[in-house]
Amino acid sequence: MDILTKKVKGTEDILPSESYKWQFVEELMREEAQKNGFKEIRTPVFEHTVLFNRSVGETTDVVQKEMYTFDTKGGESITLRPEGTAGAARAYLEHAVYNEGLPVKVYYQLTCYRYEKAQAGRQREFHQFGMETYGAADAGADAEMICAANNIFERLGLENIRLEINSIGCKTCRKDYTNALKEYFGEHKASLCETCLSRLDRNPMRILDCKNESCKKIARNAPVVLDYICSDCSEHFDKVKTFLNAADVEFEVNPTIVRGLDYYTKTVFEFVTDSIGAQGTVCGGGRYDGLIEELGGQPTPALGFAMGIERLMMVMKAENIELPEEDTCDIYIAALGEDAMIRAFGLVQDLRNSSITAETDIMGRGLRAQMKYANKIKAKYSAVIGDDDLKNNSVKIKNMTTGETVDAPLDDFVEVFSDIILNNAVGALNDLIGTDADMSFSDFLNRIN
Ligand code: HAM
Repeated sequence: MDILTKKVKGTEDILPSESYKWQFVEELMREEAQKNGFKEIRTPVFEHTVLFNRSVGETTDVVQKEMYTFDTKGGESITLRPEGTAGAARAYLEHAVYNEGLPVKVYYQLTCYRYEKAQAGRQREFHQFGMETYGAADAGADAEMICAANNIFERLGLENIRLEINSIGCKTCRKDYTNALKEYFGEHKASLCETCLSRLDRNPMRILDCKNESCKKIARNAPVVLDYICSDCSEHFDKVKTFLNAADVEFEVNPTIVRGLDYYTKTVFEFVTDSIGAQGTVCGGGRYDGLIEELGGQPTPALGFAMGIERLMMVMKAENIELPEEDTCDIYIAALGEDAMIRAFGLVQDLRNSSITAETDIMGRGLRAQMKYANKIKAKYSAVIGDDDLKNNSVKIKNMTTGETVDAPLDDFVEVFSDIILNNAVGALNDLIGTDADMSFSDFLNRIN
């Protein structure tokens, strides 16, 4: 196939027939973030390379192997963001957002870039939805974060997804654990890949998430961090669990979770599924109490998560989750002849200005072809304007499902059609209330949205 019409490996197109699903999911995420008091942050696609080296960590797979890094013509080293946390933290510091009062709570929806081996659920360009909180040290903030992610999965109706949590301790207790890992992996040097050999001295925890099979095998019996955390971290972790229990959020403690990025401290968590193959981690996050200081700010506790939207879509497909059907055009106005076309064009603009989805012919097609198109786009109503209708100031509005027609004066077309739409909405609402009197208020809001 010609390269001009072939996408780059590891990238995906979201086509018009699929995009409404993305919009639905993204809107639900945005709503969830806003309900929790989070505001959107938008940061650039690329940042100075050193920002990721410093935050994600020099010895991580992401920095060592996966970043899209290039020198600009001006000689600066630039990297396409492999994740959203670093850019958000940089913006928080650069614009002194902390002056707006703590905690600062932000969310984002963005594309990320990692030069990974492309496979199902692992792309080189992918989308993340993430939430970050700055300034909150309390375990309630950890639980709030986890509950928000959990709510998104629950509201989407996912069943085959579980929450796994762990604590990887603070700077102080990490030292003992690092020593234990050095000792353990030191005895298995012969089985480690070259990258992991170089990690052994600098950051042996990174060996635990190496993708190399031989390293993975050795890592399975390595000491677990939960056995090394200090009493402060342990108390914090207990509190997180208590809050999660209070919110009826089910979880498992998985002492092997360490996450693949360097900034994490204390609580870490992942939402994992078995229904989409090897890349089963749909969402990952945790605390990163040292990052803001590492980037030059005041010591500031912080935490967050990000979920991969492609992976989420895959789970939804695997679980046969049905999304509301895409809304179709309210009315198609077909026209016969030049004068009618001009009138139809004007009417369609007026309808659109009244928030009604309306279409008319822009292809110079004959009447039959116009009606064929109206059917194809599943227009809910149609109207055909000809010379006689112009003369008589009257047109028939046809319900495309029932075939029923209503006569409308052309001069009052927008008003008459608005009434039809409004009556339909009221009827649908009455049906809804009538059929399910026990519905909760939030379900009711969800269903009418
Ligand atoms: P992460 O675990 O590297 O964490 O990525 C979060 C999610 O992004 C993953 O769980 C997965 O769903 C998705 N993801 C990662 N890589 C790929 C890929 N190559 N293809 C498709 N999806 C992918 C972070 O990025 C952290 N910044 C999360 C965070 C926010 N921690 C604190 N705040």
